Amino acid sequence: MAEQEYPIKQGKSDVSRAARLAIAPMMDWTDRHCRYLHRKLSRDTLLYTEMVTAPALVRGGATHLLAFNAEEHPVALQLGGSDPVELAEAARLGAAAGYDEINLNVGCPSDRVQSGTFGAVLMKDPGLVAECCAAMIEASPVEVTVKCRIGVDDQDPEAVLPEFLARISAAGVQRFAIHARKAWLQGLSPKQNRDVPPLDYALPLRMKGLFPALHLSVNGGIGSLDEAEAFLEQGFDGVMIGRSAYHSPAEILAQADRRIFGSGTDTDPVGVARQMMPYAADHIASGGKLAQVTRHMLGLFSGRPGARIWRRVLSEQAHLPGAGPELIEQALCAVLDAQAGDRGSETRGSAGTTLTV
Ligand SMILES: Cc1cc2nc3c(=O)[nH]c(=O)nc-3n(C[C@H](O)[C@H](O)[C@H](O)COP(=O)(O)O)c2cc1C
Repeated sequence: MAEQEYPIKQGKSDVSRAARLAIAPMMDWTDRHCRYLHRKLSRDTLLYTEMVTAPALVRGGATHLLAFNAEEHPVALQLGGSDPVELAEAARLGAAAGYDEINLNVGCPSDRVQSGTFGAVLMKDPGLVAECCAAMIEASPVEVTVKCRIGVDDQDPEAVLPEFLARISAAGVQRFAIHARKAWLQGLSPKQNRDVPPLDYALPLRMKGLFPALHLSVNGGIGSLDEAEAFLEQGFDGVMIGRSAYHSPAEILAQADRRIFGSGTDTDPVGVARQMMPYAADHIASGGKLAQVTRHMLGLFSGRPGARIWRRVLSEQAHLPGAGPELIEQALCAVLDAQAGDRGSETRGSAGTTLTV
């Protein structure tokens, strides 16, 4: 088998374990501030960067795009590109920067990405993807993985996906995250391409039967830890969650260490919000703005009492000149008030009599 010919390099066991639950790469969303927040909510979950293009790193010298906080580990760098030499160099730079995994984007359908011949359009050229991956593996001391779709345009996913996995795994890749829907490269916006093509979870699950040695994560439309657990029970090795984790980070991450990894204890969004205060202070001291950090925190209390007031205080005030980390504490006070009010109403009987104090 391919995996014996291409032994996985350092870091495999820890990162594969972390990949039981991963937060998907999302451009403009999973920047380092977002990842820091997610890491405070879960110690074990694997985090992905936004996509960084190989040309930007290698030709543009934009190595500042590789900066991350040491507390983010385990963290994977997602690369976009289709030139094996350039991708190999980008993978080498990523590994040297300290990333635990290098991931190749074969799933993103945006126009900009298509124009550079990378992303989902590469589902049509598994030979080139295999060449890119082999070059990246050769250059990278950490594991190289692929995020893909089940097909694009009028491809037949039943034929395309097994062929794709066979060819890319023969090049040495052993771990895949599969967004379980096609991408339409013409006629649908990137946003529509995340919702309109129907999800087909059964096909990637059948791939687990065909390729039992591969680590396969399912992605697309997964909205809760209950669903994530169900997918793991069905036989997937991992679950990757994007939008739900961004919009409701505590719902997905606060119980993840215990429920998905069988370790650690649940985290409390109030405590996590407070841990973000010194982080935000450091960011502001180095010339950044509070809102760059707090914009990722707006959903922290989603589904809980105080969610609206929290979101309102941060979104209305964090961008104001001079806004500092104390705004987080101010917003928290409003949340705690709302929670106290909620508890008060819970302790009243139907006739309005107080049952407990
Ligand atoms: C704002 C946004 C940006 C995204 N950027 C990327 C990206 O850079 N690379 C990538 O592979 N996928 C990207 N995606 C797709 C997600 O990684 C994921 O595959 C998709 O959202 C489906 O998962 P979900 O239903 O759990 O959100 C992006 C998604 C969103 C919402």
